[in-house]
Amino acid sequence: MAKSTSHFVCQSCGAVHPKWSGKCDDCGSWNTISEEASIETTPKGLTYGKGKKIDLVTLAADAEDAARTGTGIGELDRVLGGGLVAGSAVLIGGDPGIGKSTLLLQTVVAIAQKGISCSYISGEESVAQVTLRAKRLGLLSPNVQLAAATSVRDIIATLDSGNPPQVLIIDSIQTMYLDNLDAAPGTVSQVRAASHELIKLAKKRGLTLFLVGHVTKDGQIAGPRVLEHMVDTVLYFEGERGHEFRILRAVKNRFGGTDEIGVFEMTGDGLKEITNPSALFLSGREGVVSGACVFAGMEGSRPLLVEIQALVAPSYMSAPRRAVVGWDSNRLAMILAVLETRCGIRFSDKEVYLSVAGGIRINEPAADLAVAAALLSALYDMPLPAACVMFGEIGLSGEIRAVSRMEARLKEAEKLGFTSAYIPLATSKKTNFKGLTLAIKDVETVSDLARQLFGAKASRQPPVASRQKTLETES
Ligand code: TYD
Ligand code: MG
Repeated sequence: MAKSTSHFVCQSCGAVHPKWSGKCDDCGSWNTISEEASIETTPKGLTYGKGKKIDLVTLAADAEDAARTGTGIGELDRVLGGGLVAGSAVLIGGDPGIGKSTLLLQTVVAIAQKGISCSYISGEESVAQVTLRAKRLGLLSPNVQLAAATSVRDIIATLDSGNPPQVLIIDSIQTMYLDNLDAAPGTVSQVRAASHELIKLAKKRGLTLFLVGHVTKDGQIAGPRVLEHMVDTVLYFEGERGHEFRILRAVKNRFGGTDEIGVFEMTGDGLKEITNPSALFLSGREGVVSGACVFAGMEGSRPLLVEIQALVAPSYMSAPRRAVVGWDSNRLAMILAVLETRCGIRFSDKEVYLSVAGGIRINEPAADLAVAAALLSALYDMPLPAACVMFGEIGLSGEIRAVSRMEARLKEAEKLGFTSAYIPLATSKKTNFKGLTLAIKDVETVSDLARQLFGAKASRQPPVASRQKTLETES
């Protein structure tokens, strides 16, 4: 017979503990464990032969590809892997106020315009609030059904009969509750049980379900992390504080790749798609100044040009400052060390500041070459050649290493009006430059880069020790 036991669940990671404690052993967070409603434990003594037989089929190639329905919002389709899949569940996570409700409201209206029935259930805002926002954004549509509800039982009773909608939005899963569970909405067991019921409905009725989940640092509210294994697709909506652009990133996708991003801009009239993000991160380039270099990077399958800016200032401190925004500070230290050791170019008596324009964060090692060029340009106070892009990874011996997707990077640069590119010699040998009009400059080592860009100015300076010796002999 099933037995009921009381159990203690960490609200941050979902780990179940037999007794209460102040700290969760699994995730290490404090004060997140709370007692939750008893659950039916599995009956003991399950013996073979009692279950129903299930059908096993061969893994044959006659299954069809999941049919896709475009949402009408290109950036969202890209991240979803081509569009909506019937019967799938999508979780959209993000900090409060980042624009999840706005994105989904715009999405339902765009879908509804294609004649697809949609329901938007808000557990956070009243119908009047949602309507007001839609009106302000000019998004009124008679094909979208709105409701303010939080009881999963009511939602399922309403939608599991007659003609259910093809797309269902639940905003947010933290506000939904099942009345047969003795736990507050937002706790792990409620979030898990409510999503389970809604996902079951989506599979049964073949509708596409969007769940909104808040991510907070506060352990009292169950983050959507506990749901990640239950849904088919997990998207994160993120943005930098003080910047208006937002990035939609796939972290799990059973129907597509996870390296895609969608770029939006939050404006007074809602979210606008940025179909050409390079233009966004390059805007504001006025004239050619020293210390600025354009990096031809990749975000997923899409090339992205970003501007890297460096500033080098004299320092009177024994440990000069190094500050980095949008890049890895350890990587900057490594490049400074390579420049110093392999090329004899000194930064040890200078403050170094490095920033990626536009507020985006770069994780690619391919940005090394552009960073080195920006640093040298700032040091010598000489601008880099106009309309040129760079990419390449720098190794510790000063060599420039090959990077992937070279052609896509070069094509994007050419599209945006760049006329020359500094690229690793190792990749340029393998690339077919057919159809490209960019002037290609091969770079083999960091000192080669310095020589090509700044000529005699960057010729190797004597190492510090020998210079001191010369001074001593002179005096
Ligand atoms: P919202 O979609 O409510 O965020 P979430 O659902 O993720 O909590 O977006 C709220 C923020 O977006 C709010 O701070 C104001 C801003 N915003 C705009 O800048 N312009 C707009 O047109 C809208 C609708 C919101
Ligand atoms: Mg919201």
